[in-house]
Amino acid sequence: MSELLLTGISQAVTPFGMGPKHGAAMGQLRMIQQAAIAVDAGVISWIGPERDWRGNAESVIDLANRAVVPGLIDPHTHAIWAGDRLADFEARSAGATYEEILAAGGGIWHTIRETAKKSSEEMAALALPRVQALQRSGATTIEVKSGYGYTLEAELRMLEAVRLLQQQTHCQLVPTLLIHLCPVERAEREAYREMVCAELIPEVARRGLAHTVDIFVEHHAWSAEDARIVLGCAKAAGLSIKLHTEQFQRVGGLEMGLEMEALSVDHLEVCSLEQCELIAKSKTIATILPGVSLHLGLPTAPGRALIDAGAAVALGTDLNPGSSPLFSTAAAMGLAVRLNGLTAPEALSASTVNAAAALGLSNVGRLEVGMQANLLVLESSDWRDLPYTLGHNVVREVWVAGRKQAA
Ligand code: NIG
Ligand code: FE
Repeated sequence: MSELLLTGISQAVTPFGMGPKHGAAMGQLRMIQQAAIAVDAGVISWIGPERDWRGNAESVIDLANRAVVPGLIDPHTHAIWAGDRLADFEARSAGATYEEILAAGGGIWHTIRETAKKSSEEMAALALPRVQALQRSGATTIEVKSGYGYTLEAELRMLEAVRLLQQQTHCQLVPTLLIHLCPVERAEREAYREMVCAELIPEVARRGLAHTVDIFVEHHAWSAEDARIVLGCAKAAGLSIKLHTEQFQRVGGLEMGLEMEALSVDHLEVCSLEQCELIAKSKTIATILPGVSLHLGLPTAPGRALIDAGAAVALGTDLNPGSSPLFSTAAAMGLAVRLNGLTAPEALSASTVNAAAALGLSNVGRLEVGMQANLLVLESSDWRDLPYTLGHNVVREVWVAGRKQAA
């Protein structure tokens, strides 16, 4: 006897379960028409054509001819911040660039000044409606980075805030320590790096506040050489690593990240075709963030070329106040099809199974027996409405671990 049976599913659509998807496989989906899904203890216990179901269920819910896809996974967000960046938005629309604003001490520095003042309770309260918006858009697993704390204490408060947030939502939050900006002066930068390596990373590892360290490698942030040292410390502390890299300029972050076996390299707006080939030869996931290209008017990451080369591409919102105020994981899929050349099935793989791999997770992102029962019931009987529709939410119901979430 199963606890729950979902019937009346016009199509149950899922990527295959082969771990990180490479190249051609990303575009292949399994589609079961007129499907049913059984759930026990929060896990999918049966999936197949409804006419093949032979069991019994305590409770049966008819989804009335609607499509079902796996819950989406947003593998890259900065959902905790204070203050706003509306003045930057206005200045940029009048011609200033993101990098100029940052170099002048504004932009990310402004958000750090605002965020670092807050308690972890205040940070969590600011972030909760953002996480809820992502969940309503279909995200059932959401990565949340620190990086606007800057000091040891404020970075720890940001990660504590993710813990508090986790108590207030059923979707799964994955905390990441982001080593975001650094002092411009060399001596100060070395002292800050030393603090990160000797105090911050060990404390985060000791308290289990995050399992991954991310670093921003860019002309106005960390050099590849400094980042290599920081990421080496992270690995020595038993943490996995990822990078913000090739966003504005190529300063060696991508090659270093691949060499250090990063879980993912994120952004890639200026990634060259040769670099696509390098990623394809590695186990590292290429995470693209189309909201950034849209909001900052940057080149678009070469999603098509990455997949054609055989790289595993994941997709995220990069929700943050400065470069991507995109509060919808489903909209990121829609943008990736339009801006990065992904097909609709590739966008679904990028937002599910590959996004899970970018977070080191393997129990979410697919509709398959044994996977956590995280799924979306769409308004439509055709799943393609999810990447197709812009400016309207076609996600009707969000289920996490076999439980329907309040809208
Ligand atoms: O992913 N590029 C660096 N960090 C963030 C933006 C943060 C911000 O602008 O506040 C990003 O784009
Ligand atoms: Fe980011």
